[in-house]
Order: sequence, then structure tokens, then C-alpha cells
Amino acid sequence: MAEDILISKNASKEEMYKELLPQIASLIEVESDLVANLANIAAALKYGMNFFWVGFYHAKEGELVLGPFQGPVACTRIPFSKGVCGASYTQKNVVIVEDVDQFPGHIACSSLSKSEIVVPIFANGEVVMILDVDSEELASFDEIDERYLNELAKMVEAKL
Ligand code: SME
Repeated sequence: MAEDILISKNASKEEMYKELLPQIASLIEVESDLVANLANIAAALKYGMNFFWVGFYHAKEGELVLGPFQGPVACTRIPFSKGVCGASYTQKNVVIVEDVDQFPGHIACSSLSKSEIVVPIFANGEVVMILDVDSEELASFDEIDERYLNELAKMVEAKL
């Protein structure tokens, strides 16, 4: 039986990640189905960290295709050459955007999204999916998010 994700009140962002990641690790270690794990990770991140939108896009059929997510309805297909997600895929790197309106080619799935971080997930040196996190506030993401979301990406990679 799944347990609720518990995060201390008034915790700093780093403390929240430090509490959340072991809980996600326990959630996914007992399950081998990828979709089930990605779905729970999206929910745990969105509700644990109070993000606006959290989801995965799979690299397949020559583009990025929407996978498990939590939040408002999102664009289903993103060309590798487009948006923050495409930039992360192409550069094989984390991309942090403080103000999406200033990012050329940003794809606005929701006009409420103001800042964004995208983290690539690898198998055999290739990006096979990306994790996209959106915030309703400007400049929500920094090196703390990069560090812990990269840790999360490694946890997903270990399940591929
Ligand atoms: N903003 C992203 C598209 C995905 S949505 O934010 C869910 C981008 O520019 O790639």
C-alpha cells in the first residue's frame, strides 16, 4: 500500500528535496513498471515540492512525446529542435530558464508557467527522456534543483 509523501512544514527547498528523494526511492524500488514509477515520481514531485507542472517526455518517433505527468493538460509532441525541452535534449544537459518569455522558442503549454527546468535522462549515453518542471513564479529554479533533480534522473536511469 502506498504511503503519503511527507515533507516537514517550513523546510527549505534543499531540506524538502532531502526528505523527498528517499521517499521516492522507496516508492520505485518495489516496482519495475516504468510508467507506474514515472507517474508516481511526477505526483510525488508536484505535491511534495508544490510545483505547477511536472512531467516526462520520451524521445521517440523523432520527437519528444508526452509521458506521465501531473498538472494541467500539456503539449503532446515537441520537436527535438523546439522549446526548453528540445534544448535540453539536444544539448544533453540541464536547462534552467528564469523567465520563459525571454527564452527564444519556448513552448507555452500554459500561460501560467513562468520559469522552468529540464533535466535529461540517459540510457547508453543517449537522452531517452527528459524531466520537465514548471513554476508559476519567475526564477524558481537554481543549482539546488539541478543537483537534486539530477539525482532523481539517476534513480530513473537505474530503473531503465
Ligand atoms: N515549456 C516546454 C514545453 C513543455 S510544457 O512546459 C509542459 C518547452 O518549452 O519545451
